[in-house]
Amino acid sequence: MADEPKNTHGEKTFGESDDFRERMPEPAVSPEAPVADADLPAADTTPDEPAMDEAALEVERKTEAAGSPNGVAALFNRSRRGTYRAQSKAGASKSRVRASERTRMVPLPSDGIVPERDLYATPVLECRHLGIDFGGLHAVEDFNLIVGKTEIAGLIGPNGAGKTTVFNLLTKVYQPTRGTILLDGVDTHGMTTAKVAQAGIARTFQNIRLFANLTVEENVSIGLHNQVKCGMWSSIFRLPKYWVSEHEFHKQALELLDIFSMADMAEITAGNLPYGAQRRLEIIRALATHPKLLLLDEPAAGMNPVETEDLMANIRKIRDEFQIAIVLIEHDMDLVMNICEGIAVLNYGKIIAKGTPEEIQGNEQVIEAYLGSGAKGA
Ligand SMILES: Nc1ncnc2c1ncn2[C@@H]1O[C@H](COP(=O)(O)OP(=O)(O)OP(=O)(O)O)[C@@H](O)[C@H]1O
Ligand SMILES: [Mg+2]
Repeated sequence: MADEPKNTHGEKTFGESDDFRERMPEPAVSPEAPVADADLPAADTTPDEPAMDEAALEVERKTEAAGSPNGVAALFNRSRRGTYRAQSKAGASKSRVRASERTRMVPLPSDGIVPERDLYATPVLECRHLGIDFGGLHAVEDFNLIVGKTEIAGLIGPNGAGKTTVFNLLTKVYQPTRGTILLDGVDTHGMTTAKVAQAGIARTFQNIRLFANLTVEENVSIGLHNQVKCGMWSSIFRLPKYWVSEHEFHKQALELLDIFSMADMAEITAGNLPYGAQRRLEIIRALATHPKLLLLDEPAAGMNPVETEDLMANIRKIRDEFQIAIVLIEHDMDLVMNICEGIAVLNYGKIIAKGTPEEIQGNEQVIEAYLGSGAKGA
């Protein structure tokens, strides 16, 4: 068990009135990619064996033959499970980001970078010297990260690097051994898991955690009931206020499900959904708690290439519509390099690189970390 956290206090936080921030023009919001309204594919995928249909394999063969334009990303993807995650041709165009459309990232005096549009807002997340030990193992060590208010950030690294542990620290599944976590400028020291959820952090898990016996809508409603407005007596005696709030929750649940075109699945038992749909439902349930910061732990795991393309578009859509920040852990480098604005790379619990997708792809240390951890044998 970890020792009591020894947090640092009294340091300057970034926020509203820093002089170095000159007035900037309104941020250019990234163009919203269309959302597929096709029905969900069958559940023929598992996290360990992602599906590769014939079309996808064909794209992979051609990409390999032609020499991938995104060679480092391909290397990363191969290192994960000995195979590429090829993109479907049909979906490939809609979520691609051209270099000219890339977000301009602006350095902060404290070693962080944030999207230009978030420069004047308090960062949603600021980790300083965060660390946790498990016995003699420094699972996370001196972890420093700033995430802008509406940033899509990536946390990547080889297996066992400490990525999920960082999420567990942020959500207080583990209390940090060292360091400070500021959520929207507020120190989360001493908060419980429930408190940080109320304060605005929501997450999904590496291994799906849904209420398998409840319906899709009931799973979403659980998130919504975090902000229940009607009192105990209204609920017990089913007073009019109770029915008004239930009606409101039903409406909100369907609206949220509609993000992933799942409103017509509201009555289906969650455990009977295809795998990819369960992953999407987990994201929707997390969104239902109205977070400021959404943490996604391997959201594309087990998804086929078409589902992954849709996921990319929907992650951007969520950020644009809800104006929240998203940090995602992902091994699918094509996804990471396409939708993340800032990326941090962990290896053996330490950040070895931070930067834009272009900077990360060209970083020797990062390439070495991945090569050393599995790509050699791939
Ligand atoms: N509760 C725990 N007790 C002891 N060791 C732990 C615990 N949780 C994580 N670890 C160790 O911390 C290290 C980081 O694990 P973590 O799950 O964060 O890696 P990861 O980067 O998420 O890997 P993956 O990509 O495989 O999911 C590993 O060596 C793991 O064994
Ligand atoms: Mg993990």
